Amino acid sequence: MPKLFSAQPATILAIDTSCDDTAAAVVKGRVVLANVVASQIQLHKPYGGVYPTIAKQAHLENWPATVSKALAQAQVDWSDLAALAVTVGPGLAPALEVGVTAAKQLALEHHLPLISVNHLEAHAWSSQVIAKPQAWLSLTPAQQAEISNLAEPTWPVLAVIVSGGNSLFVEITGFGKNRVLGKTLDDAAGECLDKVGRMLSLGYPAGPTVEDFAKLGDAKKFKFPLPMTTSDNFDLSFSGLKTHARNEIEKLIQVDKLDQAATYDFCAGLQTGVFRHLTHKLGKLLAFRAAVSGRAFSQVWLGGGVAANMALRQTLRTTLKPFGLKLSVPYNQRLCGDNAAMIGLVGGLKFSQGLIEKLPDKVERQPRLTIDN
Ligand code: KG4
Repeated sequence: MPKLFSAQPATILAIDTSCDDTAAAVVKGRVVLANVVASQIQLHKPYGGVYPTIAKQAHLENWPATVSKALAQAQVDWSDLAALAVTVGPGLAPALEVGVTAAKQLALEHHLPLISVNHLEAHAWSSQVIAKPQAWLSLTPAQQAEISNLAEPTWPVLAVIVSGGNSLFVEITGFGKNRVLGKTLDDAAGECLDKVGRMLSLGYPAGPTVEDFAKLGDAKKFKFPLPMTTSDNFDLSFSGLKTHARNEIEKLIQVDKLDQAATYDFCAGLQTGVFRHLTHKLGKLLAFRAAVSGRAFSQVWLGGGVAANMALRQTLRTTLKPFGLKLSVPYNQRLCGDNAAMIGLVGGLKFSQGLIEKLPDKVERQPRLTIDN
C-alpha cells in the first residue's frame, strides 16, 4: 500500500498558539513523541470566553517552557529535528502572531526549515496521529520508520471538524486537496454549547459540563428545533438554537424553575439539538453523494474540541452506519482540542513533499485562512 511520508519520516517540532492554548509537540511521521499544552482556561474563565490580549501575553510567557518541555519529553535535541512547523491560521491574530514569531526565531537560530500549517487542516487529520508505542527508543530506525509512516487512504475522505471556532464538512481528495462541502453560517457547534452554557452559569468552556450534565438529564423535556431543514445545501447554523435556548431559559427564570434538575434536562435537550442538526446535515450530504456517485467516501475523520464528546461520536456512528462508513476519532482528548501534535503531522507531510517556506522571515499569521484550495 502506498505510504504518505517519505521512507524515513522526519522528526518535527510543532507549535500552535491559534487561540488560548500554548501548544508544542514533537512528532515523527504519525507518532507523537511529546504533546504539551499549556492551557489558559483559568485566565479566560472570568470573561466567559477568550480575551485576545490576555491570550497573547500568556502565549509570550508560556511558549519557551512549553517548547523545552516538549523536547525533553520526546527525549530529542535540536540536532535531531528536521524542521519546525507552526500554525499560521486561522485563529486569533494576536495569539497566532506569538507562535509565528517564535517559530521564525527558533528556525533561524537552529538552522531548521520552517513549515506553515493550516490549523483546520491539522484538525481534519488529527485522528490519524498515533501514540508513541512502548519501548519506542529500543526500536531500530527501520522499525520506527515503519510505525511512523501512514498508509495512503483511499480517497476521498470526509473530515468533520467540530470545534469552538468552526463546524464544517471537508472533502479530502489527497493530502492538501481540500474542499469545503458545508460549514456553519454563524456560530460553531462548540461556541453554541459555550454560549448557552454561559446563560446557565456552567463556566467556561461549557462544552464538557454540558456533556456531563446531559448524562443526568432527560433530553425529551426540552425540545430544540431542527435548523435549515428546507435548504438544499449542507451548511449549518447554530445561532437559532442559541436564541431558542435563551428564550426558554428566560421563561424558566421568570417562573423560578431553573433548578438543578431542569439544568440537567436543558443540557440534555441542548446537546441533542446541536448534534441532531449536525448529523441531519451529514446524513443529507452522505445520501446526496451516495446517490450521485455510489459510495462517496472511504472514511470519515472527526476532529476539533467537540470531538471529545462521546454522545457526538455515538450519534455520528449511528448516522454513518447505513452508509457502511466508519468513524476515525483522535486517540485521546488532548488531540481533540487545540494541540501541536496534529500540526506536526501535517507539517511532516508537507516536509516530505518539500513544502517548506522558501522565505521563512516573510511568513506571516493568517487569521482568516480557510481550508479550501
Ligand atoms: O478545538 P478547540 O479546542 O478550540 C477552538 O476551536 O476554540 O475546541 C474547543 C471547544 C469549546 O467550545 C468546548 O466547549 C468544546 O470544544 N468541547 C466540548 C467538549 N470538550 C470540549 N464540547 C462538548 N463536549 C465536550 N466533551
